[in-house]
Amino acid sequence: MVDLQGQYASIKDQINDSLQEIMNTSAFINGPEVQNFQKELEEYLGVKHVIPCANGTDALQIAMMGLGLKPGDEVITVDFTFAATVEVIALLQLTPVLVDVDPETFNIDPEAIKKAITPRTKAIVPVHLFGQTADMDAIMEIAKAHNLYVIEDNAQAIGADFHSKEGKTSKTGAIGHVGSTSFFPSKNLGCYGDGGAIFTNDDALAHTLRGVVNHGMYERYHHDVVGVNSRLDSFQAAVLRAKLPKLDIYNEARKAAAYKYNDALKDQKHIKIPVRSGDCDTHVFHQYTLKITNGKRDALVKHLNENNIPCGVYYPIPLHNQKAYKDSRYKEADFPVTNQLVKEVISLPMHTELDTEQIDHITKTIIEFVNN
Ligand SMILES: Cc1ncc(COP(=O)(O)O)c(C=O)c1O
Repeated sequence: MVDLQGQYASIKDQINDSLQEIMNTSAFINGPEVQNFQKELEEYLGVKHVIPCANGTDALQIAMMGLGLKPGDEVITVDFTFAATVEVIALLQLTPVLVDVDPETFNIDPEAIKKAITPRTKAIVPVHLFGQTADMDAIMEIAKAHNLYVIEDNAQAIGADFHSKEGKTSKTGAIGHVGSTSFFPSKNLGCYGDGGAIFTNDDALAHTLRGVVNHGMYERYHHDVVGVNSRLDSFQAAVLRAKLPKLDIYNEARKAAAYKYNDALKDQKHIKIPVRSGDCDTHVFHQYTLKITNGKRDALVKHLNENNIPCGVYYPIPLHNQKAYKDSRYKEADFPVTNQLVKEVISLPMHTELDTEQIDHITKTIIEFVNN
């Protein structure tokens, strides 16, 4: 699904030199690489504060801790996402409230958010799924009207732009009260292990978050808030520093591959190519995800596997049907879109090194199979 070796080859010398330098200086934790990466990412995202941490799941958890959410507070998020989003809500003993998504963009449905709001609702967590911005104009309006926090799960969309209806352009993750991301190796900006970060423009919240990531300490052995140990290590920061200046180029390569897939697959009766909302160029294609509408999705997965073509089903089970998150409050009728998507979606190889020949081979194999 991804070609990390090909990308490494193009930045090998820079990465190897930086890693060697860290070993020479032994600045393994919170060294200059981490501090410099933090500043460079703040600049890239146009956000006042970046707080690096150990992974994207911690980033979400720490964001919720920093906002002071308390057990019993309701947090609205999507039924169709990676489990990390709902996992941390449950871990903190907040109440997850799952809602359905838009059938075209796969992102949170603002109308479903409105219906799910109760006096206990404290926050909304939109996920910019597969690299496409959720409808942040609508989400921020709802949040303002109901006095709710917006925590953007930006694990899959780093580098994407959002153009607001007022004409302002922001990077995803820097629009809500707080944003989070993951630097898992396959992400659009990935390190060579685990990594994550939290973003905010709120000075007071940033101060709290900096304490929470480090055992609640601002001064050594003085624990002012309950915290966790969640640090980005210097090796990962060095990898990310080498890659960050290339993130826009990487995202353009993903878009170019997506457009080639689109050209090959757009006129097929049983295949729906990804719909790009609003400004079509803002989708950064963490995943290139098709819908197979003639019931042959599972058979296609098997066929691609047999032909050594990687593919993935993100996600095969709605979160409301996962054992860990089942709840008698949920009714199947509340999730018509997610229930259908889990049967139809398939994601194709997507990375910065895909070439035309590979895309031709993949798309021809798919078209032949789906139409037979
Ligand atoms: C939408 C979403 N949120 C959160 C995460 C968690 O990130 P991590 O694996 O770095 O903990 C992921 C990772 O796949 C994700 O896709």
